[in-house]
Amino acid sequence: MDIPMQQTRLSDQRPTTRVLSITSGKGGVGKTAVVANVAVLLARMNKRVLVLDADLGLANIDVVFGLAPGKNMNAFFAEEMSLDEIMIKGPSGIRILPAGSGVQRFTRLNARQKMRLLEALDSMHNEFDIVLIDNEAGISENVTYFNTAAQEILVVTTPEPTAITDAYALMKLLSGQYHEKHFNLIVNCVRSSEEGLDVFKKLTMVADRYLDIAIDYLGCIPIDRQMVDAIRKQEVIVDLFPNSKISQAFDFLARVIVDEPQHLEAKGSVQFFWERLLDIGGK
Ligand SMILES: Nc1ncnc2c1ncn2[C@@H]1O[C@H](COP(=O)(O)OP(=O)(O)OP(=O)(O)O)[C@@H](O)[C@H]1O
Ligand SMILES: [Mg+2]
Repeated sequence: MDIPMQQTRLSDQRPTTRVLSITSGKGGVGKTAVVANVAVLLARMNKRVLVLDADLGLANIDVVFGLAPGKNMNAFFAEEMSLDEIMIKGPSGIRILPAGSGVQRFTRLNARQKMRLLEALDSMHNEFDIVLIDNEAGISENVTYFNTAAQEILVVTTPEPTAITDAYALMKLLSGQYHEKHFNLIVNCVRSSEEGLDVFKKLTMVADRYLDIAIDYLGCIPIDRQMVDAIRKQEVIVDLFPNSKISQAFDFLARVIVDEPQHLEAKGSVQFFWERLLDIGGK
């Protein structure tokens, strides 16, 4: 694939770890599927990838990869373990910070826990090129924390009207109350690329009218029944059916993510790797 010179240079010069928060208003729209498949593809492009399962009450990224971690983020938030001790290896060399399941204690992080995570990730600034955060659905405080602390927000929706409405509600909250002004959109489970584009157009039309935000369209992923086999076999679909249309769409998405110039302007919130961002801003 030809990559324009200017974009190649931009991605080569990226001086810091990029933190992407994958989020949605409605549940079950494919956030974990996007994170798992894109993580594997980015790793194959020689990116050092960390996946953070931020669904602190109902973890599932480890299940998708067929892993059975003995420890999880609960131990970090309980101040019993460091991130290094919790981190496990996934396919293609990706690293994973698994969440615990069925424990309500950390479903609402307190200020100290949020700050400790910011600091702990910050100390890993040389270790990863990209951090993907797999959020829980909805607009909980944890969701707003991870989205505002990330440098880029990737909103996942399906063409279902309820999913679109909830994606809009999430962007409305993040822009109105947390001053997030830039969002990236992924439309999952489409029957055609036109359908994906149509969802993007609908959302931008309403957002242009009522919200002061910009939405970039990262692309769409087709609906594919083979996803059921992938989940059953606990393998990502890009490994199981690498030549399928859905795998090609994930591949395209991973390339867009790598090539997309990142939005590094300072946000109003404290961010992961913020010291590194301040360095860049000062230069
Ligand atoms: N493009 C697709 N085609 C067919 N099935 C899909 C597709 N994407 C995701 N699925 C299936 O939809 C279900 C939900 O996907 P996933 O768990 O990735 O969503 P989620 O947004 O992470 O959900 P949650 O909000 O519960 O975390 C899974 O069974 C998954 O296999
Ligand atoms: Mg999920």
